[in-house]
Amino acid sequence: MVREFVFNLKKKNEIFNGESHWKAPSNIALIKYWGKKSNQIPINPSLSFALKNCYTQTKVSFVQSDNSNLDFDFFFEGNRKKSFENKLKKYFKNIIIYCSYLSKFKLKIESSNSFPHSSGIASSASSYCALSLCIMDIEKKIDPSIDNQRFLRKASFLARLGSGSACRSTKGSYSMWGKSNVFPMASNLFSIEYPEKVNEIFNTLCDTILIVDKQKKKFSSTDGHMLMQNHPFSIARISQAKDNLLLIKNALELGDLKLFIKVVESEALSLHSMMMTSDPQFILMKPNTLKIIDEIWEYRKKTKSNVCFTLDAGANVHLIYPQEEFDSIQKFINLKLLIFCESGKFINDKIGIGPLKL
Ligand code: PMV
Repeated sequence: MVREFVFNLKKKNEIFNGESHWKAPSNIALIKYWGKKSNQIPINPSLSFALKNCYTQTKVSFVQSDNSNLDFDFFFEGNRKKSFENKLKKYFKNIIIYCSYLSKFKLKIESSNSFPHSSGIASSASSYCALSLCIMDIEKKIDPSIDNQRFLRKASFLARLGSGSACRSTKGSYSMWGKSNVFPMASNLFSIEYPEKVNEIFNTLCDTILIVDKQKKKFSSTDGHMLMQNHPFSIARISQAKDNLLLIKNALELGDLKLFIKVVESEALSLHSMMMTSDPQFILMKPNTLKIIDEIWEYRKKTKSNVCFTLDAGANVHLIYPQEEFDSIQKFINLKLLIFCESGKFINDKIGIGPLKL
């Protein structure tokens, strides 16, 4: 238990009902979180940026109930979603020691995503982030003295207990999570807004998500994280992530796109290498993932482009490039990459600015 985030206020505001509504972004990691200890503590630091167009909107309506157990109904895009209610039950069980006031309420949680339902884009980061911000709104109604920093830190702390990467969606464009010598002010418990200078070019990044496989992945990231515990390369991986964090810090500050590309692609391929060398091993890339990577490398060789790729725990490819290349990259996608996308699907997104209270 982390005492700092336990809610125990003597003089509480009495709240009977109300509602809260937040829009929270998905994020894409440049330095990948892969591997955790108990209680969702990451084994290595990670860094991501928030997306603008891929987000979740969540509304939580709450009324006081006589029941002393937290009670809730969950609706996704207008329909009751029992399968997700089971996941949420576990989540609430994990966070109730930090938010004891929740047991007094009956909640109606209504959520929707901006991105297509079965596109292979993970929604856990944006959905746990939006829900945690709504919960913190309830907490702030009961304890109006909470300041903005504590509000966001605890929201990030709660989101992390739902899905690790969700904790990086609570504030700002670039966000980091996990302690290291490079950023001793960072925490394993919640994310912080990236504290260093970022060259303007990196505030214009686009992220086009090429949908290679719409299927839900067969191997969950939770299982993948656990496999890092006895992984033969885990020590090397932790030190690589720290080294890459230092390199990307320099790249971000200096506007060094070449170094940025080197680090981002190294992180993506290392993430998947860890999967391929786990016990049991697994492969989430598809043949078309590799074909796209090949085309990107070929395109970079032939042109002066600064496009690069990254991968999440799945087969889809994120194309990352500065805004000034938008038109040429769209042509490149249409000409060379579309044939590798399932049903010719891709989503154009770009760097965003974090969550929004609605
Ligand atoms: O948040 P989780 O437990 O789904 O883990 C996500 C891990 C990666 O997306 C593969 C990397 C990251 O840092 O987001």
